Amino acid sequence: MKKKIIKSHEHSHQARDRERWKTKLGVVMAMSANAVGLGNFLRFPVQCAANGGGAFMIPYFIAFLLLGIPLMWIEWGIGRFGGKYGHGTTPGMFHYLWNHPVAKYVGAIGVAIPFALVLYYTYIVSWTLAYSIFSIVGSYFGIETYEGMVSFLSAYQGKVSNVYFRDIGTAYIFYGITLGLMVWILSRGISKGIEMLANAAIPLIILFGIILVARVVTLGTPDPSFPERNVLNGFGYLWNPDLKMLTQSKVWLAATGQIFFTLSVGFGAIQTYASYLKEKDDVVLSGLGTSSTNGFAEVILGGSIAIPVTVAFFGLTRTQDIAASGAFDLGFFAMPIIFQKMLFGQIFGAIWFFLLFLAGITSSVAMAQPLMAFLQEEFKIVRKKAALIVGAFIFFLSQPVILFLKHGFLNEMDFWIGTLGLVVFAIIEVILFLWVFGPKNAWKEIIAGADIKLPRFFFPIMRYVTPVYLFILLGFWFFQDGIDVLMMKGVPEANYPYIWFARFLLATILMAMIFLVWVAWQKRHVIQRRIPE
Ligand code: TRP
Repeated sequence: MKKKIIKSHEHSHQARDRERWKTKLGVVMAMSANAVGLGNFLRFPVQCAANGGGAFMIPYFIAFLLLGIPLMWIEWGIGRFGGKYGHGTTPGMFHYLWNHPVAKYVGAIGVAIPFALVLYYTYIVSWTLAYSIFSIVGSYFGIETYEGMVSFLSAYQGKVSNVYFRDIGTAYIFYGITLGLMVWILSRGISKGIEMLANAAIPLIILFGIILVARVVTLGTPDPSFPERNVLNGFGYLWNPDLKMLTQSKVWLAATGQIFFTLSVGFGAIQTYASYLKEKDDVVLSGLGTSSTNGFAEVILGGSIAIPVTVAFFGLTRTQDIAASGAFDLGFFAMPIIFQKMLFGQIFGAIWFFLLFLAGITSSVAMAQPLMAFLQEEFKIVRKKAALIVGAFIFFLSQPVILFLKHGFLNEMDFWIGTLGLVVFAIIEVILFLWVFGPKNAWKEIIAGADIKLPRFFFPIMRYVTPVYLFILLGFWFFQDGIDVLMMKGVPEANYPYIWFARFLLATILMAMIFLVWVAWQKRHVIQRRIPE
């Protein structure tokens, strides 16, 4: 008994020193800024167009209700719970959920995943900054073909050298600026950095989004000689379901993957933000508010820009082809051509890419914060120093992503993190929280301090439906694509060394995190043993 009191006293002391969100609205803003990212405006339209348009939206909404929202609440619950004990990352959180020496090492995944993600995500974010400047200046104006835009981006990325860019230098400059901004925001901390940024970014993202949507819906039929290429057909594609597509499991997998990616669940990052809540702060309504804001930004804004515009200018079949050819093709190739055909296209182009930049950088910051919290709390490194360390690590470890882009390095990383990792991590946390920690305890953690009543039927959903759904998904994925992907089927042989290097890098990051957790807990034991003496 006595031991327990000492323990909880020690923890409340650690927890008291933690940073906090300043306002209730700021919490939802910061969480929404975390979730709203490139996924909403670039990944969603591509996934949707490549998977049957309206047919995609049915499994999408089902996954939102049965996986997305429940996981959002679960992660907020785990995060606020960990914050009470002074831990902003999953090693510490799992340690308190599951009284077992292995728990903290399992939690290392929740720091490794967002960190590995930030290594390539931030590089892409820096392209959007570059393209917003290119739009204002008009750098790509005059390149009117799709192939032309492809070679413009390839030269920017240093894959080829041509009249547009001689080398990768420009890309490095914009990457440096983006990373510098990130480090600065991180070094300012939770309320003065992340929350302030979110309070400015979310309204701007919504404003820019509405401006673009207004422009899109008034496009009509841009080229009268192709009457079927019009905006209405674009919206029709998105909202008229082709029910036959629902028999294809790839549509279900894609929709579920998109829900995870866009809500940032299954990464360990929501938990970190939630750990800066106060003990009595609401989770249920705020989690719902975050999910709805993200859904609005994705389906209403994200869905009403890239797809309808591309259908209006290129026609439906071409839009599907473009979407099928890659995750960025609609945003970086099709959109810039379209801006050139619009009045004030330079301004609309700048708005589009700057919107992407704001959405992206706020997500990048959220991916880096788990490692920040880990260094600050488990290694007692002060915030500014931690921000510099994190920035330096990101810069060095992202070099292979930048330099080996054309060899499929980024795609390989994205597969392990963005397709497989998040599902596996989500399964782990649901089981730890709702089964090991205990269903009643988990439910109590979630509804504590709630501003609205959480309907009881979410309890069986969280406990049974969510994990079973995830297991089935993983099983299907494994037998349909997983084996092929693991065996690198279809990958050109010349890329094999790079693919292995990407896997090696990811494995090293995970091992390093496990090692750091070990070191941190060693130190803690020394301190704990010393105190009573
Ligand atoms: N949700 C983000 C987007 O839509 C991407 C993302 C995935 C993310 N996992 C994350 C952002 C973790 C922050 C933290 O682009």
